[in-house]
Amino acid sequence: QFPFVVAVDGPAGSGKSSVSKAVARRLGYGFLDTGAAYRALAWHAEAGGVEPEDAASVISCLASFDYRIGTDPAGYRVHVGATDVTDAIRDPQISSVVSLVARVPEVRTHLIELFRSIIAAEQRPGIVVEGRDITTVVAPDAPVRILLTASEEVRMSRRAAELTGHDAGKTGEQLRARDRADSKVVDFTNAAEGVTVVDSTELDFEQTVDAVIAVVESVS
Ligand code: C5P
Repeated sequence: QFPFVVAVDGPAGSGKSSVSKAVARRLGYGFLDTGAAYRALAWHAEAGGVEPEDAASVISCLASFDYRIGTDPAGYRVHVGATDVTDAIRDPQISSVVSLVARVPEVRTHLIELFRSIIAAEQRPGIVVEGRDITTVVAPDAPVRILLTASEEVRMSRRAAELTGHDAGKTGEQLRARDRADSKVVDFTNAAEGVTVVDSTELDFEQTVDAVIAVVESVS
C-alpha cells in the first residue's frame, strides 16, 4: 500500500494536530489536517452570507468550494481560492459554527472523497492524517491507526495556554460543546477495533510524539 498511512483521531484539544505534524516531520511523511477543511468550508459559507444552520445552502456552497492545501508539514498553508485562510479558520467564531457544517452528510461525503484523493496523490513515502473519523471512515485500512486522548482537564488547560488573551473558562465551555456536538456525528471517544490508544495525559509534547512514533515503528 502506498503511501503508508498513519491515521490519528481524537477530541478537540488533544494536541493531535501539533503532534501529528511533528510526527510527519520526523518521519519525512506528508501531513493532512482534515479539520482544516471543515473549518475552511465554514469560512467559505460565512463569506458567502450562508447561515451555517441552513444545511441546503451549505450543501450548495460545496460547488464553489475551491479548497487548496499542501501536505508539507513544514510549510502548512490553507487556501480557499486565492485567499489564505490559515489564520482565519482558527478564529473562535469559526470554531463555534464548524460542527453545524460538519454534521451535514453531503458535506462529509464530499470532503472524505477529497481527503482520499489528497492521500492517493502523496509523493512522500507516507502521510499522517488527523481528524475525528480517519481510523474509522476515511482510512479504515490504514496500517497504523491511533486514538490520541488526554483527560478533559489537561485538554482544557493546554488549549487555554495556547489561546492567551481568551477567557479560559469560556474556551473550555466551547471545547466541551464542540465535542458534544461532534460526537453525535462520529465516535472519536472510543477506540474502534484494532485502534491503538495513546493517552497523553501524563506525557509532555515530545513524549507524546515519541509514543506515536513507537506505534508506527512497531508496525512498519
Ligand atoms: O480538528 P479541528 O478541531 O480543527 O476540527 C474542526 C471541526 O471539524 C471539528 O470540531 C469537527 O466538527 C470537524 N471535523 C470532522 N471530522 C474530521 C475532522 C474535523 O467532523 N475528521
